[in-house]
Amino acid sequence: MTHVAIVTGGTRGIGAATSTALKDIGYEVIAIYRGDTERAEKFTAETGIEARQWDVADFDACREGVAQIEAEFGPVSVLINNAGITRDGTAHKMSEDNWQAVIDTNLGSCFNMCRAVIEGMRARKYGRIVNVGSINGQAGQYGQVNYAAAKSGIHGFTKALAQEGAGAGITVNAIAPGYIDTDMVASVPDDILEKIVAKIPVGRLGKASEIARSIKFLVSENAGFITGSTLSVNGGQHMY
Ligand code: CAA
Repeated sequence: MTHVAIVTGGTRGIGAATSTALKDIGYEVIAIYRGDTERAEKFTAETGIEARQWDVADFDACREGVAQIEAEFGPVSVLINNAGITRDGTAHKMSEDNWQAVIDTNLGSCFNMCRAVIEGMRARKYGRIVNVGSINGQAGQYGQVNYAAAKSGIHGFTKALAQEGAGAGITVNAIAPGYIDTDMVASVPDDILEKIVAKIPVGRLGKASEIARSIKFLVSENAGFITGSTLSVNGGQHMY
């Protein structure tokens, strides 16, 4: 059976590497993006992977978008909730908008997307969901109360949904990437990033492909006994 897989934030960074890794093993992949159409079109031209545009923070957009994909490609059996943003700043300077945008995009999206696919997965008695958390949701990070709260929420969300899905053939797991060589991490000021990298025992940033490989493992059909887990992929920076 061909798996239909949705990867949110799937045209850039970790998401793009994951979309490609799943396509390479024969999955029908649809990558969701929010804003950068030029980049998404380039990604599709290079990889042959379909990209669809909507805001995963919008509940109705997720419901409608998933329905459209299922009408075109068939039932979704794999969902990777990867879309995420940062709006870093210390709490005493953070605006309400920067708090809410990160909570809605990084955490709200997991509910919105899971809600759109979960009934179908339950009916078909099969599903694989991977939510992309973060080392900073496990350990906290100066300047990231919004991001750490959202990512920490993802870890709790994952364990709760895993319990609900276990009897219906659905596994729900989280990946907790460390600092990975993506645009998001590149936006951290150089002097701060240098100090962070100095604390990674492996001595370097991770690669998006290293996260993608871990996700590919968790969504495989024979990973059915792994659910509610968090796989930390962080070069030893935080052993949790
Ligand atoms: N611990 C303790 N103190 C710290 C600190 C830390 N980690 N980082 C900075 N400070 C201190 C500074 O030394 C400074 O102190 P002094 O005024 O006494 O010198 C004070 O806090 C102010 O620091 P900044 O000048 O950095 O303050 P700012 O308002 O200009 O910037 C910030 C704050 C934007 C949060 C900046 O520190 C920053 O960008 N930090 C990096 C945050 C980060 O790691 N983001 C990760 C993005 S990637 C990602 O999130 C992906 C993933 O999942 C891993």
